[in-house]
Amino acid sequence: MAGTNPYITTGPIEKPTTRYELIVRCEGVEHTFQVDPARLPYGHAGLVGSVLDVAEGHDVPIEHTCGGVCACSTCHIVVIEGLDTCNEATDDELDQLEEAPGMKLNSRLACQCVPNGTKRVVVEVPGWNRNAVKETPH
Ligand code: FES
Repeated sequence: MAGTNPYITTGPIEKPTTRYELIVRCEGVEHTFQVDPARLPYGHAGLVGSVLDVAEGHDVPIEHTCGGVCACSTCHIVVIEGLDTCNEATDDELDQLEEAPGMKLNSRLACQCVPNGTKRVVVEVPGWNRNAVKETPH
């Protein structure tokens, strides 16, 4: 199960009650999931039902250096479609997002972004995020 960050508070989160489609565009590949609320959590990081939770549970690589507890910005995603169906970003999430390169108005942290399942959601992992925290050989 995902860890928790005792220094932050999460706002109200409406979890999905019906299946919905989540599309994650990552490294030039589009991954499409039919999210089944009965199977949550899918992974072991981020809020239950978050984009990171679903992606990690399907082996789609979204960096998450802090383990999905809203303490970094490596899980930065841009929500292309369906942002209005996601929980509202907290001040703590927005503080972390300020550190993300190329932040946009529709940026979120994948570990904190939980769609409610009322519409299809499409997100993109920004190119500048991928492998940004991996060590490179010297
Ligand atoms: Fe660190 Fe999401 S993984 S904030």
